[in-house]
Amino acid sequence: MGKFIIKGPVKLKGEINISGSKNAALPILFASLLIKEVIEIKNIPKLKDIDIVIKLFLHLGVKIKNGKSLIINASNLHTDFNFPQNLIKSIRASIWLVSPLLVRLKKIHMSLPGGCSIGMRPIDLHIKYLQKLGANIYIKNNCIIASIDKKFKGSHIIMEKNSVGATISIILAAIYAKNITIIDNAAKEPEIKDLINFLNIMGAKIKGAGTKKIIIQGVLKLKGGIYTIMDDRIETGTFLIAAAISKGYIICKNTNPKNLKIVLKKLEYTGAEIKTGKNWCSINMNNKRPKAVNIITGPYPNFPTDMQPQFTLLNCISSGYSIVQETIFENRFLYIHQLNKMGAKILIDNNKVFCQGVTSLYSSTMKATDLRASISLVLAACIATGITTIDNIDYIDRGYENIEKKLISLGAKIKRIK
Ligand code: EPZ
Repeated sequence: MGKFIIKGPVKLKGEINISGSKNAALPILFASLLIKEVIEIKNIPKLKDIDIVIKLFLHLGVKIKNGKSLIINASNLHTDFNFPQNLIKSIRASIWLVSPLLVRLKKIHMSLPGGCSIGMRPIDLHIKYLQKLGANIYIKNNCIIASIDKKFKGSHIIMEKNSVGATISIILAAIYAKNITIIDNAAKEPEIKDLINFLNIMGAKIKGAGTKKIIIQGVLKLKGGIYTIMDDRIETGTFLIAAAISKGYIICKNTNPKNLKIVLKKLEYTGAEIKTGKNWCSINMNNKRPKAVNIITGPYPNFPTDMQPQFTLLNCISSGYSIVQETIFENRFLYIHQLNKMGAKILIDNNKVFCQGVTSLYSSTMKATDLRASISLVLAACIATGITTIDNIDYIDRGYENIEKKLISLGAKIKRIK
């Protein structure tokens, strides 16, 4: 695993072009396994998670041209099902192999998916709802074993819990299902809307994108075509926080601020000057120290859990006290003790942290633990006094394209040691 050497404090300011969304690209890639014609997907971010999916697809016999865009031909799928376990276990997104391979190959046998250590990451809802749609699916010896006699059968599913991943598994299974599938209490994240837009352009019949009621009319086939992935709203939020913590000024381009309304609102409460346009947004702290703001994470359109570590960092150098409550994942505070090593004053109490703002942080040696925590430690190091070393930075490459290049363009003093 590589490491970063970072010198601070610096003020982060300038212009950033936001990359394509990891969490839209991943489901759209797995959805492409349902299509037997050639498709071209643009604005795919160059990330480790995407590279892993490409390796899995090559194992399945998918033909892929990986240039400026990704050209995918999944007309002939085959597999001996002995997927490289390390690939399956390294990302959470591998769970989205199950639905398309049951549709295409009528069976699948793979190890349980991986994902950041931010919680148990169970897949009981995926299993339950695919069973409801007609799959014979169960877990044995840490493997998912599943088969389906014919086609999935449309069904009325009332999701007992908000789950982005399970909503996506249901959608992918229902595309060619007999009759209609209705999903009540579906997740409404913009990345799911992007997936549905992609599928409808390829000929699917899905209504309710971005709402909690999704209706899918099964079709016989999808056609090929071209699609451009939406921007990464979490990358945008991360760079806005970079300016906020360093009293800087940043403009994010190629990004739709409508998908980040609550984060922009909360940044305004800190005293930041926020401006937005159709495909850009900017933040200017006007050299002021931010005011601490309380945060509660929740399913979209509530405050995104993937922005929780970044905003907690902002709170710990803001003026005043604040509480951050994490309601989605049970273990998403692994980075707190590392911030406290840098001089932060944060107390953890179950799924809440209590922050008392401090005026500065000090360098330290740290280990990254998960994707969003890691980027927050990198940002903390940019404003800390002294030279900070961060190990295990491969986590960051999973979710942020060219991260050190982008940070250096904003004034960061950061070096990667392989
Ligand atoms: C997706 O994870 C994202 N990952 C996460 O982003 C994001 O934080 C999360 O959705 C937001 O909800 C990708 O899109 C690849 P969930 P996912 O199913 O699908 C529980 C990042 O940093 N649950 O919405 O795994 C689960 O444990 C990552 O980019 C079950 O109990 O999240 C969690 O507490 C981190 N049973 C809650 O639901 C299940 O079968 C929400 O999980 C599935 C989930």
